[in-house]
Amino acid sequence: PAAEIGVIGLGVMGANLALNISDHGYEVAVYNRTVAKTRAFMAEAGALSEKIIACDTLEALVDAIRPPRPIILMIKAGDPVDQQIAALQPLLDRDDLLIDAGNANFRDTIRRFKALEDSGPTFLGMGVSGGEEGARHGPSIMVGGKRDSWQRIEDVLTAISAKYEGEPCAAWVGEDGAGHFVKTIHNGIEYADMQMIAEIYGIMRDGMQMEPAAMAGVFAAWNDGPLDSYLIEITADILQTQDDESGKPMVDMIVDAAGQKGTGRWSAIESLRIAAPAPAIEAAVGARSLSAMIDLRTKAEAVLGVPGQGEFDLGATTLDLLEKALLAGKVAAYAQGFSVMAAASKEYGWHLPLPVIARIWRAGCIIRSRFLDDIASAFTATPDVDNLLLTPEFAQIVTDTDRALRAVLAEAIRKGQPVPALASAVAYFDQLRRSRGTANLIQAQRDYFGAHGFVRTDAEGEAHGPWHSEE
Ligand code: 6PG
Repeated sequence: PAAEIGVIGLGVMGANLALNISDHGYEVAVYNRTVAKTRAFMAEAGALSEKIIACDTLEALVDAIRPPRPIILMIKAGDPVDQQIAALQPLLDRDDLLIDAGNANFRDTIRRFKALEDSGPTFLGMGVSGGEEGARHGPSIMVGGKRDSWQRIEDVLTAISAKYEGEPCAAWVGEDGAGHFVKTIHNGIEYADMQMIAEIYGIMRDGMQMEPAAMAGVFAAWNDGPLDSYLIEITADILQTQDDESGKPMVDMIVDAAGQKGTGRWSAIESLRIAAPAPAIEAAVGARSLSAMIDLRTKAEAVLGVPGQGEFDLGATTLDLLEKALLAGKVAAYAQGFSVMAAASKEYGWHLPLPVIARIWRAGCIIRSRFLDDIASAFTATPDVDNLLLTPEFAQIVTDTDRALRAVLAEAIRKGQPVPALASAVAYFDQLRRSRGTANLIQAQRDYFGAHGFVRTDAEGEAHGPWHSEE
């Protein structure tokens, strides 16, 4: 057989990944459940089709790949993956390597990994980020499973991955579900970052009554500063795009109900499950859910009214303050995402390499940015730090942006601008930096009503208060 690798699923991501692989000189065999899609794919592959073997059946696909066969699954996450594995299992050898590259829930990946451990084929769960462009020209790749399985396909995966100053954005991050977990947290951070950008856009649009074209200029300028990132770049581009049909700014013609396929929500759920708080991600997921309730919001507007339109004003430096507030919010969101990974690493025994994860997110993925290079440097310099905010570099950013974040939030809250994710950032900072918080009162209440006990500040072990001495 001629092919070095197979790809199952020729949707947008699978098709582009297959083209990317063949573009790097690898012979690739492809299969799609509906043959018409395979035909259309081959017709569009142009010269690359010479290095691609189109297969109409799974048997043909398996026969076309040189054993031990690496096969990438790029199909819809969930049941389809289990069905596809079941269909492939009788055709594959123990040493063949099945790589699930979809947005799988890491718990499913752990289950599949365990189920195949004895019988084979060998299983890897691989997070892929970067959308269509990334898949075609270089995604960020996060691999979980056995390290020696990763080593078998390391060459092809590093070849097709994005490069940051020549360094490939592909890495093995840990056992079983680690790759899909890291991808899930990537998406949680993506949600928080997007939500905070949308909140700043909301302040500009409703609070300052700026036109999209003017906002585009602001975001484009910010893209030359510390906020430099793919998400800010596309925001500037989106805001200056016109709708051909109406002649209006495209963004004004789009219904404000956000979709979500689950990874952001899983991030929040996992952070709650392992008690590693990520309030910015929770706020972003909540905001997407509330955005989808258009009927309810319309009724609430009729009953409660919309306050403060056009009244957001912090003087001549308003836009600079917004830029700094967004940077502060971003620091909180990323610190939280990385601390969830640190906690999960202990919980699931993964040893997730935080500096490596930051490095492979610098290019290719949706949250790629200059900021991630700074995170990579900070974690490399202080690898065992408990929280990104404790690194000297990020502590400095928090200090430098603190006044702006508070000024923007105070004005937004006063004028009725919704800022759930940005507001969660200041609450996180303020709770985190207080060595004595207020949970002593919560402990007292728990002990009062349920004799749950507490630890005294001046002694070890469980104590109780004299709450009911009269009874
Ligand atoms: C990526 C993205 C991608 C995700 C989309 C849509 O890293 O390339 O995260 O994996 O599917 O962003 O996600 P939602 O539909 O949940 O917004």
